[in-house]
Amino acid sequence: MAAFAPPPGTADIFAAEAARWRNLENTAASVFGRYGYGELRTPIFEYTEVFQKGLGNETEVVQKEMYTFEDRGGRSLTLRPEGTAGVMRALSNTDVLNGVEQRVYYYGPMFRGERPAAGRRRQFHQVGVENVGRCAPLLDAECIAMLVQYLHEIGIHDAKLSINTRGVMSDRGPAGELLRNYFVKHIDTMCDDCKNRLERNVWRILDCKQEHCREIVANAPDYVAAFSDESRAYFDEVKTALDAMGVNYTVDPLLVRGLDYYVHTVFEVSHSGLGAQTAIAGGGRYELYLPGQNKPVPGVGFAAGMERLMLVQDALGIAEDTQSALPFFLVGLGAAARMANLKLAGELRNAGISVMTALEERSFKAQLRAANKCNARYTVVRGDSELEKGVVMLKDMSSGEQQELSAENLSETLKQLITK
Ligand code: HAM
Repeated sequence: MAAFAPPPGTADIFAAEAARWRNLENTAASVFGRYGYGELRTPIFEYTEVFQKGLGNETEVVQKEMYTFEDRGGRSLTLRPEGTAGVMRALSNTDVLNGVEQRVYYYGPMFRGERPAAGRRRQFHQVGVENVGRCAPLLDAECIAMLVQYLHEIGIHDAKLSINTRGVMSDRGPAGELLRNYFVKHIDTMCDDCKNRLERNVWRILDCKQEHCREIVANAPDYVAAFSDESRAYFDEVKTALDAMGVNYTVDPLLVRGLDYYVHTVFEVSHSGLGAQTAIAGGGRYELYLPGQNKPVPGVGFAAGMERLMLVQDALGIAEDTQSALPFFLVGLGAAARMANLKLAGELRNAGISVMTALEERSFKAQLRAANKCNARYTVVRGDSELEKGVVMLKDMSSGEQQELSAENLSETLKQLITK
C-alpha cells in the first residue's frame, strides 16, 4: 500500500510499465508515419474557450468534466480533456484555413473529472490523429483503416468497429425534429437525463444506457432517411472504400459520439476484453470553429485510450518483455577494484551496452544479490588479487560457469561475448 498515493483517477507509471507505453507510442509513430502523419505536441492546458467553442458548450465534457482554473492575470485556462481542439488551435496558425491538408498525430495525457473506475481515469492518455483542412469520404475511410492497422500492429485483431453517419449540420434540424416528435411521446417514462436531452441535444438520447430508454430508442424512426442525398451518398462512399480495403465494420445507427463537433462519418472501436468501459477508440469527421474564426475548419481523426489498449492487451495475454536481461553486472571488492569497474562501465556504456556496477563498499554476497535482482546475464568480479594479476573472473549467471579473462582490452572482449 503506497504511503502517499497520487490523487484518485491518476497513476504513477514505473519503468517496467513505461516500456509498454513506449511500445504503443513507437508503433503509433511508425504506423501513422507510413500514412504521412507527423507528430504535433501541443500544450497540456489551453484557454478555456478553445474547448468551449471547439467541443460545444452543451457537451458533457465541457459542462461537467473540465479542470478549469485561472492564471495569475485572471484568464480562464483548462487542462485539455481531449486532443482535437488544441490541435486545431495550433493548426489555425497554418494554411488549413485555405484548405491545405495537414496530417498530425499526438499522444499524451488528457484530463476529465469523471468518477474513476477500471479503464476510466481522471488523467488518462490518448494516442490520436487529425487530418485537417479537407473533406472527402476517402479521407475518412483511410483514417479508419489506419486505426485498424494500428490495433493490429499492437496485437489487437479482434476489436469491433462500428460506424455511422451524423450527416451535415443542416441535416440536424429535420432529422432532429423527427426524433423529437417520436421521443416526446415517450418522454414521461424515460430517465431524467433523457428528459434533459430532449430539449438540449436529442441525439444523445440514442446512446442512453438505461434499459427502459433503450427499449424506446430501439423503435425510433430511421433518421438517416431524413438526411440530404449528399450526406447519404457521402456515407455510401465511405463504406464502399472500407469494403475495398477489406476493413470489417458494423453500421450502428445508435452511434452518435459524445462531442458536438462531428458531421458525416463517426466511428468507435470496442473490445469485449475491457469490461464496463468498452470503447478503446473513437473518432469521426468534424467541423470545428477555431477561436476568432467564423468559418469552421473540416477534419477527420480519432483517439484511442492508451490505458484501455493495455487492458485489452492484458486480456489477450500480450505482454511486452519488460524484464529484459542486463548483460553485465560488475562486482568490485575494494576501493581500487570499484574504481577500475567504474572505468570499465563507462567504456561499455559508450559502446552501447547496458551495465550496472557496485558503487559502494558491500559484501560479495550483497553484490551478487544485486546482480540477480537486475537479472544480469554475466557478473564480472574483480578484487585485489585479480587487480594484481591483471584479470577478472567472468561468471555466467544461468550456467554458473566461470572463466578468467585478461583485463587488457576487457570492454572489447565483453562486447564480443554478447554480440557473437
Ligand atoms: P473520446 O471518445 O472522448 O474522443 O475519447 C477517445 C478515447 O479516449 C475513448 O475511446 C477512450 O478509449 C479514451 N478515454 C476517454 N475518456 C477516458 C477516461 N476518462 N479514462 C480512460 N480513457 C478514456 C475524443 O477524445 C476525440 N477527441 C477523438 C477524436 C479525434 N475525434 C476526432 N478526432
